[in-house]
Amino acid sequence: MEPTPNFDILPRHIGIIMDGNGRWAKKRGLNRFEGHKQGAKVFKTISDYALQLGIECVTFYAFSTENWKRPETEVNAIMDLFREYLFEAEEPQYKEKNARLHFIGSRDGVPEDIVQLMKNVEEDTKNNTGTIVNIAINYGGRDEILKSVKAIAKKVENGEIKADDITNDDITSNLYPSSSLDADLIIRPSGEYRLSNFLLWQSAYSEFWFADVLWPDFTIEDFNRALNDYANRNRRFGGV
Ligand code: IPE
Ligand code: IPE
Ligand code: MG
Repeated sequence: MEPTPNFDILPRHIGIIMDGNGRWAKKRGLNRFEGHKQGAKVFKTISDYALQLGIECVTFYAFSTENWKRPETEVNAIMDLFREYLFEAEEPQYKEKNARLHFIGSRDGVPEDIVQLMKNVEEDTKNNTGTIVNIAINYGGRDEILKSVKAIAKKVENGEIKADDITNDDITSNLYPSSSLDADLIIRPSGEYRLSNFLLWQSAYSEFWFADVLWPDFTIEDFNRALNDYANRNRRFGGV
């Protein structure tokens, strides 16, 4: 691996929308599945690199609440890739990487064996001290906020808090804990300029980095470029 560049300012929480797998495959006359397979390899490279850089938290968008609309064959192929990765992450040597793996998103509709593997891997890596690697599966920003609102509504119903006393912090503290930190930087390759329901609450003041590169072609150099741009942004948060 090449020498680690020294960035002046590193984001604490990075969100990555892993998009463009299908187009990558199409360009090569391959089945979309081949794009997802290559995309999974890039995920491993970039998550290992984030760990090497000592990034606090990286959230990878792998499957949205809307992605169930895709043909069953494609959904099944993606689920198979999750399974494959989870088996790998269950191996004892994976723990030595020191990443803390978390899975965010609704477990409804996700095959039971995958849910169990997710739990195992979270348990296996919970005492690690390195980067928090969140994998968003069946994740939607709106779904996450809706869950938070419901949890707060229950407290109001039980008389634990008054509706007038609800704060921003109450909403944040009822999101998925491992990714509730504000996202400093959101990276979206593939030439699309949208969030597609990713980290809606956490992206209020995110810096965005877009590029035409398709996710399966995304490299450490692209990631470095995004980090370098981020370090040169002037974040004002509404101030001067
Ligand atoms: C992202 O790549 C992977 C998932 C959404 C699961 P796509 O499959 O969306 O690839 P494109 O956007 O069609 O090229
Ligand atoms: C966003 O990509 C979801 C993931 C990368 C997991 P999509 O390909 O689903 O988003 P749209 O449909 O282009 O907005
Ligand atoms: Mg896409």
